[in-house]
Amino acid sequence: MTDTADDRLVAELLELALEAAHRAGDFLHHSRPADLGVAATKSSAVDVVTEMDIASEKLITGLLADRRPDDGVLGEEGASVAGTSGVQWVIDPIDGTVNYLYGLPSWAVSIAARKDGETLVGVVHAPVRGETYRAALGGGTFVNDRPARVRPAPAFGLALVGTGFGYLAERRARQAEVLRELVPEVRDIRRGGSAAIDLCDVATGRLDAYYERGLNHWDYAAGDLIAREAGALTGGRPGEPLSPELTVAAPPGLFEALQARLDGARCSPTSRPGGPPPTSAGCGWRG
Ligand code: IPD
Repeated sequence: MTDTADDRLVAELLELALEAAHRAGDFLHHSRPADLGVAATKSSAVDVVTEMDIASEKLITGLLADRRPDDGVLGEEGASVAGTSGVQWVIDPIDGTVNYLYGLPSWAVSIAARKDGETLVGVVHAPVRGETYRAALGGGTFVNDRPARVRPAPAFGLALVGTGFGYLAERRARQAEVLRELVPEVRDIRRGGSAAIDLCDVATGRLDAYYERGLNHWDYAAGDLIAREAGALTGGRPGEPLSPELTVAAPPGLFEALQARLDGARCSPTSRPGGPPPTSAGCGWRG
């Protein structure tokens, strides 16, 4: 590969993302207060922010501002800088906040860098797992220093599928309806509690597929690139790119089938007394 200015930029961004994710991860892992509580709530009473989410975001944005002061920043806990360099950092200071709050192991620091809307690097650092997932555009995915690859697509009925639920009760009810249809049609379902780790689990073959409605950019920006660079396809509804509306990730062959199945999901009125009738649009996409 020739050493172009673009290559050098990608290498610099990746190194900085790794440093920031490790510093924040070490801090979160080793300084978690025994009496950690909720500092604030966001979209609902169960959408929580801890003092550690806020401190982790400050640590990451401070480091980035010090090293690359002209870059833009978008962070889950409110960091928002327009920037002038064309590079934007997308940060989830703790993905899997509820797991972290409860002392469950599945949480991560997720950092991506985009330029002109294209994700160039993604890092997901999961300290309790002892694993760091990283990808640079066109450079493949690595878990620690080992190359990662998706599992070949199984038949739909043999797929182990990860998913998650939003924080709003209405949305959860619809997500449960879609899941009710899917459960008997696949091997099984997993709900890990960190979308970033779920996407990395597709990248490393620990899940066959993952989908979720209603994620935010910071939940999926790094994991999306990590999954794609490991051979997954990612997207939203059929023919549409991945977006906060829908995130689907799976190897070719399974990806299209899952997208189509989700798009066709109808909420049976008998399963939810008083609920809305089924629509051809599929109940997963309302609300
Ligand atoms: C959440 C996690 C969870 C997913 C939620 C996300 P947070 O992010 O990724 O797995 O199901 O939709 O909001 O709040 O822990 O950063």
